[in-house]
Amino acid sequence: MSNIVQQDILQQLKQLQKDAETALAHAKSAEATRNWYSEYLSRKGRLTGILRNLGSLSAAERPLVGKVANEVKAVLENALQERQAAIAQAELEAVRRAESIDVTLPGRPQNLGKLHITTRALRDIYAIFTAMGFQIYDSPEVETDEYNFQLLNMPPGHPARDMWDTFYTTTPGLLLRTHTSPGQIHAMREYAPEPIRVILPGKCYRYEQVTARSESMFYQVEGLAVGKHITFSDLKGVLINFANQMYGEGREARFRKSYFPFTEPSVEMDIACILCNGKGCPICKYTGWLEILGAGVVHPRVLEYGGYDPTEFSGFAFGMGPERMALQKYSIDDIRYFYTNDVRLLERV
Ligand code: PHE
Repeated sequence: MSNIVQQDILQQLKQLQKDAETALAHAKSAEATRNWYSEYLSRKGRLTGILRNLGSLSAAERPLVGKVANEVKAVLENALQERQAAIAQAELEAVRRAESIDVTLPGRPQNLGKLHITTRALRDIYAIFTAMGFQIYDSPEVETDEYNFQLLNMPPGHPARDMWDTFYTTTPGLLLRTHTSPGQIHAMREYAPEPIRVILPGKCYRYEQVTARSESMFYQVEGLAVGKHITFSDLKGVLINFANQMYGEGREARFRKSYFPFTEPSVEMDIACILCNGKGCPICKYTGWLEILGAGVVHPRVLEYGGYDPTEFSGFAFGMGPERMALQKYSIDDIRYFYTNDVRLLERV
């Protein structure tokens, strides 16, 4: 009788092993193997369930069943370990595959960017003038009334002050420079009585309506040469040389009489319109000419304020607007694009 029970239990163990092995083969995740373990090998599992019947066997029959049960357990535990190792390996492989970098893919194009148009215009101007022996001289953007006007031959109340709408600060007598010309005084006072040849680039500020042609903040590049026997012809020669290099050899230029309190005589320089070559177009307002700068022979009083004896020394000065020049050069129809930070402007030129 009990032999039959023993056979039955051994049969059950064999069946359990078969079932467990089949089930384990289908376990595809760590979680599935844990479920499998609790179903077959845990204390509440099927193996324990079978062994609970051991009590119905005689003492002589128990050892064989116990031995087989232990073997089945060992085999299944081994199989579980192998299965778990295989699953861990497969998961690792999957992660590796998902995160792998395909080095054969083409690279993403790099956007290198460009220099701002104002910066480019300034650098072109620096290159041309430094080659002619001009030094670059830095002077302040916040100035006194004295430097911005008085020492440039515009005492308080001088009507020519109206040519520049000024941003005053809350400190009396302190203002944002309306042009780079006060830098002339700084340079002269630093170098007098030595001869000088300088350009003074920098930002200027004007309390003006912002329009397509003028911003309230903009750059100027001032030029100043002081020495003995400097004449108006030197001014013309330098500026024509500049225009040839900036706009190409042979670009027609003209000087028109003008007025500035700190130069005498004073002129403005035009070049033949880059777009229509003098025929007339919207860029030159159908005049055929583009104004690029103001200039003149330094007024004797200004030389004196700078520390030079005007009976011995003479000089010329000019002031140009690099944004205005770039506007013309690249046919940009609105100066406000320069400082609104739209990269499409940079891509256009
Ligand atoms: N400072 C003048 C302006 O802002 C330009 C200028 C400079 C004219 C030097 C003559 C000499 O309009």
